[in-house]
Formats: sequence, C-alpha cells, structure tokens
Amino acid sequence: MQVLTGKEIRQKFIKFFEEKGHTHVASSSLVPYNDPTLLFSNAGMNQFKDVFLGLEKRNYTRATTSQKCVRAGGKHNDLDTVGRTARHHTFFEMLGNFSFGDYFKHESLAWSWEFLTSPEWVGLEPELLYPSVYEHDDEAYDIWINEIGVPKERVVKLGKSDNFWEHGSGPCGPCSEIYYDRGVEKGCGKPDCAPGCDCDRFMEVWNNVFSQFNNDGEGNYTDLVQKNIDTGMGLERLACVSQCVDSLFDVDTVMNITNKVSEITGATYGKSHKMDVSLRVITDHIRSATFMIGDGILPSNEGRGYVLRRLLRRDARHGKLLGVNEPFLYKVCDMVIHENKGAYPDLADKQDYITRVIKVEEENFAKTIDTGLRILNELVDSHKSKGETMFSGEDAFKLYDTYGFPLDLTQDILEEQGMTVDEAAFTKLMEEQKERARAARGDMSNAWQGLDLGLDNTPTAFTGYDHEEDGGTI
Ligand code: ALA
Repeated sequence: MQVLTGKEIRQKFIKFFEEKGHTHVASSSLVPYNDPTLLFSNAGMNQFKDVFLGLEKRNYTRATTSQKCVRAGGKHNDLDTVGRTARHHTFFEMLGNFSFGDYFKHESLAWSWEFLTSPEWVGLEPELLYPSVYEHDDEAYDIWINEIGVPKERVVKLGKSDNFWEHGSGPCGPCSEIYYDRGVEKGCGKPDCAPGCDCDRFMEVWNNVFSQFNNDGEGNYTDLVQKNIDTGMGLERLACVSQCVDSLFDVDTVMNITNKVSEITGATYGKSHKMDVSLRVITDHIRSATFMIGDGILPSNEGRGYVLRRLLRRDARHGKLLGVNEPFLYKVCDMVIHENKGAYPDLADKQDYITRVIKVEEENFAKTIDTGLRILNELVDSHKSKGETMFSGEDAFKLYDTYGFPLDLTQDILEEQGMTVDEAAFTKLMEEQKERARAARGDMSNAWQGLDLGLDNTPTAFTGYDHEEDGGTI
C-alpha cells in the first residue's frame, strides 16, 4: 500500500476517471442551487439531480467531481459527536464518478475495485476490502464474486437501511459499499462485529449507488427514464486508510490545521482526551465555516447562517477551554485556505473577506461569552444544589436570547456536568419569540399607513434612452 496525501488522492481519482472518459466538473457551491430540500450540499450527486431525472441534458454522459460537502446536524451527524469519534466531520470532500444513462453496475464496480487495489492508483490490500450489496441485488453480488473475483466470504448482504441510498425525495437506488478492515484492535470486540457495524474497525470508504428510481418524497418509487451511477468516496476517509492513521483528524490536510490551532493555543494534540476533543472540534468547525463563508453564507439567527453561527460559537468556547481569551479563529482560517486553495482557488481570492467575517463574529460573541458562561455556571450550581439534573428551558432561552448561546452550546457544556436541558420548554419560548417578532413586523408595516410623509409621489421617468446624463432628486 502506498501512503498518499489528500492532494494526491484527489488528483489520482480525477485522472483515473478522466482516463475512463469522464468530464471533470467543478464542485458546486455549498449552497445548493434551486433545491429547497437541502440546507447544504451534502453529496456529489446534488448538482446532477435533474440530469439523473432526465430533465436536464449536458454535453457529457460521464462526470467526475471532488465535491465540498457539509453535514452538520441530523441523526447521522450530531454536532456533539464531532471530535469524539474517528470518522465524523461536518466538512468533507466527496470524490465521485457519475453516469447519466451511460454505464451501469458492471463498469462502476470493476472501476472502483481497480482504483482501490491497483498499485498504480491506491494499492490497498484486496484481502482487507469487503464489498456489501443490497440483500435483493443478486446482480451486484454476482459481479463481485464472478466477475471481479472477490471470495464469497467477503461479500456481505445488508438490508435497506445500509444498502439503499436515498435522501428525501429524488433519484435513489440500491447501493454497494466497500469497507476496509482497519484491524481488530480498532473494533468494538463484539463477536458479531462485521462490515456495517457502528464501530471504527470496518471503515466504509466508497459507496456505489445504482440510481434507477425516483422517490416522490412520500416513499413511492418510480423507474427513472434512464439508469444512472452515483458514487461517493470520502477523500478524508480514504486518506485515513492510505496514511494508516487513527482518525480523519490525523490525515495530513486536516492535521496541518490542528497544528496551527496548537501553535496558537499552546495545546498539544495527543496529550489528553479532553484537549483533543477541543482541538478537533475547532479544526472541524473552522473548516466548515471557512468554506461556508466562501460560498456566501453569513452568520445569522436562521437557516444556514445559524448553523454557521453555532459552529463559530462552539469553536470560540472550545478556544476558551484551551485558555484563549481573544479572537483567534480568523488566524486558523488562513491555514484552512492555505491547505485548500490549490483545489479551490476562489478561497484565496476571498481570503480577506472570510477572515473579516470570522473576526467580527468572534468579537461580537466575545462581548457576551464571559458573562454568559458565568451565569450558566451559577445556574448549574443552583440546579445541582436542588438535586436537579434537568436545566430549565427558561434558563437555556435566557442564555440564547441575552448572551447569544446557541442551544447546542449550552447542551454541550451541560453534558460535561451530567445535565440535560428541558428542550420542549426551550422550543416553546423560541416559538413565542418568533411569533412576537412576526406580530411586531406586522405592526411596523401598518405604522407606515396613513402617515403623511410629505412625499412627492410622481413616478420616476426613465430618460436613459435619450440622455447619457440627467438630473434627479433623491
Ligand atoms: N450519493 C451517495 C452518497 O452520498 C454516493 O453516499
């Protein structure tokens, strides 16, 4: 096996598929275009949805990409798990090859095997690779065993939750994943530990989706007009395997960012679990934040902007845990850009802007974080003195509303104290506040009615067809 850097993996992957007649298409923005079902781009196929559906034609039928993705929140990527496991990131790059009514299962599976095992490309040991197939997909099962030659004992059949890929509505289908066995010492030790287990032993590196159905969002499946291929391989996961390191955080491109955080904070990676979690959270979240701002997202109290705000505020708090009391994330962001500008040159063009946005957000939060933390600690003490393990929704809301503490930040801190938050009460107060804001907006718009502002309401005439200059009153 060769040790490949993240950059080499990206280059090799694109070159491999270009040689197989694929067009290299640039990553789309993290803000999905024309797709209200998604908060962030979270898979390579997002930008090709309409091509899969046959609604859009391109001048190629094979494409390959390295797509920036964010998965932040939801059942599979709770922010709380980031930094605590070997394989959760909010930001990652997904390498993919796509066929739009062109090749199907035979080529796709054979090529993924060739790329992973051939010494010319990645050169992983074939005997450590375990393909999985959807339990009813006899065709894929047969291809692995009889065409590619993988011994039967290493091809596993799994059910719909593992081997049928869909994301809300849209193109979907059965899939075949490839797992790499990282060794028994990385595993959970359970007797039934096997590909598909939740532990860190069998790392799923590549997913081949046979995209042949459309899900209408209600669970009704119809055949697509054409059969497609949609694959996705986490660049950092493959780097983790190729570099034989413990976790996604230890791969070269990510570790360089952690090293920068260490340099600024003085915290050494690998010394204590608690410190490592903080270093990893900061590293992960600042990668996401840098790319998000680069794609035009700004911190705010809603939607994408709120996810960005949560990430930056969680980072600021972990900075405090490491003893940093002034804005520092904007300096780490320079390293994120340095590591990624080769593949994403627009990051370098926007470097000053991204840095400024992060610094302003840090400075704003710095004004309230100390008071918020002090009050939170007092409230925790008061709850504990009464023997309570549940923090009230009112207190969590006050921390949000007055000190800018996102709920998950409060939860994160409370978890360390063995406490939980009354989320239902918090949500109710949040809804009430939104309702008040809506009502206030209504009042404001009415307030303008009937006011005599003394304006001259004569419509503005456009004179630009005949005049290059003209006078006007503002
Ligand atoms: N779209 C597939 C995935 O995200 C490849 O796993």
